Amino acid sequence: MVEKIQQVEQDIAAAVVGSAAELEAFRIAYIGRKGKIAALFDDLKQVAPEQRRQVGQELNRLKNLAQEKFDQAQEQLANATAESADTGFDFTLPTVPNTLGTRHPLSLVRSEIIRIFERIGFNVSEGPEMEDDWHNFTALNFPENHPAREMQDTFFLSQDRDKLLRTHTSTVQVRLMEMQKPPLRSIMPGRVYRNEAISARAHMVFHQVEGLYVDKNVSFADLKQTLYYFAKEMFGPDTKVRFRPSFFPFTEPSAEIDITCLICKGEGCNICKGTGWVEIGGSGMVDPNVLENCSIDSETYSGFAFGMGIERITMLKYQIKDLRLFTENDVRFLRQFKGIL
Ligand code: DAH
Repeated sequence: MVEKIQQVEQDIAAAVVGSAAELEAFRIAYIGRKGKIAALFDDLKQVAPEQRRQVGQELNRLKNLAQEKFDQAQEQLANATAESADTGFDFTLPTVPNTLGTRHPLSLVRSEIIRIFERIGFNVSEGPEMEDDWHNFTALNFPENHPAREMQDTFFLSQDRDKLLRTHTSTVQVRLMEMQKPPLRSIMPGRVYRNEAISARAHMVFHQVEGLYVDKNVSFADLKQTLYYFAKEMFGPDTKVRFRPSFFPFTEPSAEIDITCLICKGEGCNICKGTGWVEIGGSGMVDPNVLENCSIDSETYSGFAFGMGIERITMLKYQIKDLRLFTENDVRFLRQFKGIL
C-alpha cells in the first residue's frame, strides 16, 4: 500500500498538465470518483486496523496534492487563454468620434432652387439622361444639319447619331409637353453631358435646371418677374437681374440672364471680367414651333422657358473658383458645407 501511494505520488509529480485536454485527463486519473486515489481509498479497508489511521492520513495528503496541482494548472490555463484573447486593443481608449457626412454643395443648391420655385407653384419633373435626337434637338426646333447643333458638342451613343447623352435639360420640356396638357409649371433639374475638355470653367458632366411655364397669356413680363424673384431668393434682396438679347432655336425672343456679380457687388472684378455682371443661364418665350411639335396649340397657348447651370449658381453662391472641385470629392472641400441643409 505504501509503495502504491509513493508510485501515485511520483506519477502526479511527473504528470504534464499544459493543455485543457491534459488537465481533464489528470482530473479523471487522480481526482475523479473512478480515479487512482479513489481506488486507494477503497483499498483502505484491507489495511490492518492499527495502520489504517496513518495510511489514511497519507492518502489524504496525496489527495490534497493532486487537487493542488489540478487547481494550479487550471488557473494557469485560464490566464493563458485570457492573454491569447487579448488583441492588444486598449478598451479604455476614448472612441474615435463618428464624423457626420455632409450634403454635396450641388445637392444643396439643387434643393434650394426646387424650394424657391415650389413656393410659386412649380412642380418638379425629370427625364432620362440617355436621349434621342428628337427630344434633344429636332422637337426643340434645331433644323437638321443646322450649325446650332454644333453649339453643343454632343456625345453620340449610336452610329446614326440618333441616340445620345442629353446636352441640356431642355429635353425634359419636350417630354413634359408631350405627356401633359397646359397649364404646365415645372422645373426640371438634372445632369447633362457635353464633349468638352475639363478645366476650371468647363466640364463634360454638369447640371442644369430647366424651367417651363405654359398657359394662356403667358408673357415675357411673367418670365422676368419669375427670374427676378428667383435671383433675390437665391442670392439676396440686393441682387439685380439683366436680360441680354440672345439666340436659342427653341425660344423666340431669347435672352441670356445675368445677375450682379456677387464677388465684387457689381464694381467689376476678374470673375465678372470687369463688367459687374455674371451670366447664370438662358431663357425666352417658347417658340411656337416647339409647342406645335408637342401637339400644343400655339394660337391658344404661350409659354416661357429658362435653363440655368447649377454649378454656375453654386460657384457664385459659395465663391468656388474651380469646377473640378465638384467632382474630385476631396473631403476637405466637401466638409466645408457642414450643417447647411
Ligand atoms: N438649353 C440651353 C443650354 O443648354 C439653356 C436654355 C436657354 C434653356 C434658353 C431654355 C431656354 O429653356 O429658354 O444652353
